[in-house]
Amino acid sequence: AGSAGPMPSPFGFAAVAPNTEDAVRVPGGFEQQVVIRWGDPVLPGAPAFDANAQTAAAQAQQFGFNNDFLALLDDPASPGRALLVANHEYTTEPFMIPGYDPDAPTPEQVAIGMAAHGMSVVAVQRDGASGRLTPTMDAVNRRITASTPMTLTGPAAGDALVRTSADPEGRTVLGTLNNCAGGVTPWRTVLTGEENVDQYFANGEAVADPAARAALARYGMDGGATDRRWEAVDPRFDLTREPTEPNRFGWIVEVDPFDPASTPRKHTALGRFKHEGANVRVGPTGTVAVYMGDDERFEYLYKFVSSRTHRAGDAPADRASNARLLDEGTLFVARFSGDAPTPGPDGGGEWLPLVESLAGGTGRSFVPGMTAAEVLVHTRMAADTVGATPMDRPEDVQPHPTTGRVYAALTNNDERGTPGKPGVDAVNPRPENTNGQVLELTETGDDPAARTFGWSLLLVCGDPAAADTYFGGFPKDQVSPISCPDNVAFDAVGNLWIATDGNALGSNDGLFAVPLEGPQRGRVQQFLTVPRGAETCGPVVEERLALVSVQHPGEADDASLANPISHWPDGGTSIARPAVVSVWRAGGGPLVAPGSA
Ligand code: FEO
Ligand code: CA
Ligand code: CA
Ligand code: CA
Repeated sequence: AGSAGPMPSPFGFAAVAPNTEDAVRVPGGFEQQVVIRWGDPVLPGAPAFDANAQTAAAQAQQFGFNNDFLALLDDPASPGRALLVANHEYTTEPFMIPGYDPDAPTPEQVAIGMAAHGMSVVAVQRDGASGRLTPTMDAVNRRITASTPMTLTGPAAGDALVRTSADPEGRTVLGTLNNCAGGVTPWRTVLTGEENVDQYFANGEAVADPAARAALARYGMDGGATDRRWEAVDPRFDLTREPTEPNRFGWIVEVDPFDPASTPRKHTALGRFKHEGANVRVGPTGTVAVYMGDDERFEYLYKFVSSRTHRAGDAPADRASNARLLDEGTLFVARFSGDAPTPGPDGGGEWLPLVESLAGGTGRSFVPGMTAAEVLVHTRMAADTVGATPMDRPEDVQPHPTTGRVYAALTNNDERGTPGKPGVDAVNPRPENTNGQVLELTETGDDPAARTFGWSLLLVCGDPAAADTYFGGFPKDQVSPISCPDNVAFDAVGNLWIATDGNALGSNDGLFAVPLEGPQRGRVQQFLTVPRGAETCGPVVEERLALVSVQHPGEADDASLANPISHWPDGGTSIARPAVVSVWRAGGGPLVAPGSA
């Protein structure tokens, strides 16, 4: 497309240029701060981080590794105080522990890895004038790890598929793993997605029962030893000894960060797959919809619609009622139609029902040959049966706070259209798709409980100079290149913000903003870049600050602690540390200020 002539920035900042620096770069006129990093104290009395003297006991009191999803929840009772909630998705011990031998990890090193997983809740104090956040040693602070007790809820709780020798009732699970993205509910809890949980469970190839082995294979658990070797220390990670333990992972977990004594709940009614995250929209009648992606090549997009209605109050009865919202309702999977191979206002689609979860922990399956519990535990197989549309790796799926339109990051799929794999279709329009696309979905009648929807592609990502990219129809000579969209968020005035993971264009990952309305719809502008080897995730975009997770700085196939590519954020010869960064406009003022640049 030809240029319509430069227009002023819709955000009031000049786009950050693509780069490969070992730094977080922000636009001119903005300031930044590392809020908290791996190893910093979370619990009162926690020791200071010492890369060369790590212990599991210390790690269990410190900020975990590889922070991903972030939430920032204000405390209505205390102005300026907020709770920062972070996921700790996974560990890479060779990049964490000096002298680590991948072939022979010690039990203490395994325990460090387990304690570095999970979540952190940290009280922070806001600065009046800036976006600076200061962590405080507060009684609400909490570490959740791979060992924290959690309750299973919904129809699969108690089923034989989730009973183990350590938990013959099938209702209490130790820990949460691979917590990627998530969401904040209107009732002020946090949802966190258990994503690539296959990587923790060893020896699926040796499970004798063919049906059990097939189900494990559908979830990627058909191999031998794991890279972490946890199975050598804890038999629950060895499938030949505890074949149902992995059925207790791969859920959406609900956490109340305001109550550090609360037991997190794994909601089986939301299905089991590689959950990127979960985001909630409340419909006009109080019905709650939860949008979710299964992040693997050719997996599906899901929606849960509650049977109960949301109560807006905060009295104990309201809280008790809202606590049941995600246990009773219907789980759907998306089938897309439309045959336009190029972007535009495109197609339709339908939400196919899989299972209805009922009060009292029972359920009704809509899938022939599968019980309700089977549909919830083996959701991928149920979705295969009903003919859902295989997508290009659905990541964050989030409804817009005012329009209700739903935005899904389809991050990439390098196997699309390759031999033996599904070919292109309207919503996944490119073969060997390395750059991804952003889907915009509109529920019929603007009703989050609708059974049908319309859709279009907002962005077909990549190099703007390439013919196969599309930026909402905006002139491509005025946009920032963007690749591999992962997490999405919305700012105070309704623009979409996109964090990327795995930039296939050769530059570092980053955070981007894009208008959804008006003449600049589709004008992507890069707001920040992250250091070498890192992905950008967890964005929280408030009126006056943007908060991002800088995950896995220094991680690369050809790097190691002996041959590092990053020393961010501490510099010198220090070990790279995943961290949370806050960014704000120097001198204060709104983050988005059209006309100021
Ligand atoms: Fe953990 Fe789908 O990214
Ligand atoms: Ca992600
Ligand atoms: Ca999000
Ligand atoms: Ca990703």
